[in-house]
Amino acid sequence: MVQRESWATRVGFILAATGSAVGLGNIWRFPFLTADSGGAAFLVAYLVLVVTVGLPLVLAEFVVGRRSQRNVIGAFAELGHANWRLIGAVGATAGFVILSYYSVVGGWVMQYVLGSLTGAYTGNPATYFDTVSVGANAVLFDALFMAFVAAIVALGVRSGLERAATVMVPSVVVLLVVLAAYGATLPGASEGYAFYLSPDPATLLSDAFGLLPDAAGQAFFTLSLGMGVMVTYASYLGDDRSLVADSLIILVVDTFIALLAGLAIFPFLFAEGVDPGTGGPGTVFVALGTAFTALPAGRLVGTVFYLALFLAALTSAFSILEVIVAYVTETFDIDRRPATLAVAVVTFFVGIPTALDLSVLTVYDILANQVLLITGGLLLALFIGWVYTDGALAELTTGSAIDDRLGTAWIWLLRLPIVAVLAYVLFNGVGVLAEAVAGLL
Ligand code: PHE
Repeated sequence: MVQRESWATRVGFILAATGSAVGLGNIWRFPFLTADSGGAAFLVAYLVLVVTVGLPLVLAEFVVGRRSQRNVIGAFAELGHANWRLIGAVGATAGFVILSYYSVVGGWVMQYVLGSLTGAYTGNPATYFDTVSVGANAVLFDALFMAFVAAIVALGVRSGLERAATVMVPSVVVLLVVLAAYGATLPGASEGYAFYLSPDPATLLSDAFGLLPDAAGQAFFTLSLGMGVMVTYASYLGDDRSLVADSLIILVVDTFIALLAGLAIFPFLFAEGVDPGTGGPGTVFVALGTAFTALPAGRLVGTVFYLALFLAALTSAFSILEVIVAYVTETFDIDRRPATLAVAVVTFFVGIPTALDLSVLTVYDILANQVLLITGGLLLALFIGWVYTDGALAELTTGSAIDDRLGTAWIWLLRLPIVAVLAYVLFNGVGVLAEAVAGLL
């Protein structure tokens, strides 16, 4: 039997979980979704969902992980409900899909670190994005990024994940604060903040249902929910910590960093008169490329920005790989290193199509965020809300006493409102996915 590790310190666990949450989702996906979906109204919908759906589900994953001390698939059998390992299977599948294109985008980021240093995109941001994002370069840097991720996971929980997160997460925060402070001095700052931060109540009300699916998908993605990262990470925890306190910290830091990323990015765009609503995965790269070309010391600023993005992406990517590696090592009794290598290679191959065609990448993104993660979350809400209620409540109060009423509210939130919202989002997501796939054919 493969020996299980545990986190060395509480801070180490919190940083690793925060590092998983904070990633391309906050700094790349969130700003372009916000921009495409009309700015501040989307921001409000997203924040509401993070608190009402995200927080209860982070807690649900923590409870399953810590109580079972198992990987996301093994956990359910360990808790005496082997049938529900379907949740883990959906999660692991989502992991393959997400990591496969996540590392492609990670590869773009690496090329942008280099491009900022050498000035390669100066004056031609759109052409540079095209050469970076599809074709041979994309595949090559995808492989390189995956190699970094695998190297960290191969080192294990303490010497790999925990140590890397402890250095990387604070660096991301510092780099983003520096950028946001610089952004605040630009002439476009107030216009950027207005677009980003002043919601139009009319849009919000008239379009609440329209905003819901994307806002929910983003809430899941950014909190690393629905695929068992939080189950796996909590399975390396002892009984002496407060799950509620830890989940609140992670949620607050993740949201803070998404907001900070918006504060850093929108002033740059408005300073250069770039329209933030032009859409799609290229937005941040092309638009910022334009901005960094024009700004004083733009190359330096660009380097700092992409370095932050690279570190943030790494700490998220290795959490995804860890979910699958934990499953493989524990189920097939294989050592961590060969397991990591095998999973990384398979995932790399799954991702190649997304490095050759941006519309395939978009399909993977929709499949993962609007279908698979939501399915995982929906099933988990049903499991905790209706099946494993007593065990879940007992685990929630282990390590810290909490008011009974809070526990009851948690269960009822999972039972009805969260299930209803996620069922709607899933229904909608299947439609969106079908459309996107039809568009490919
Ligand atoms: N939370 C990560 C981000 O925002 C992405 C992620 C999703 C990581 C799902 C793990 C699981 O970039």
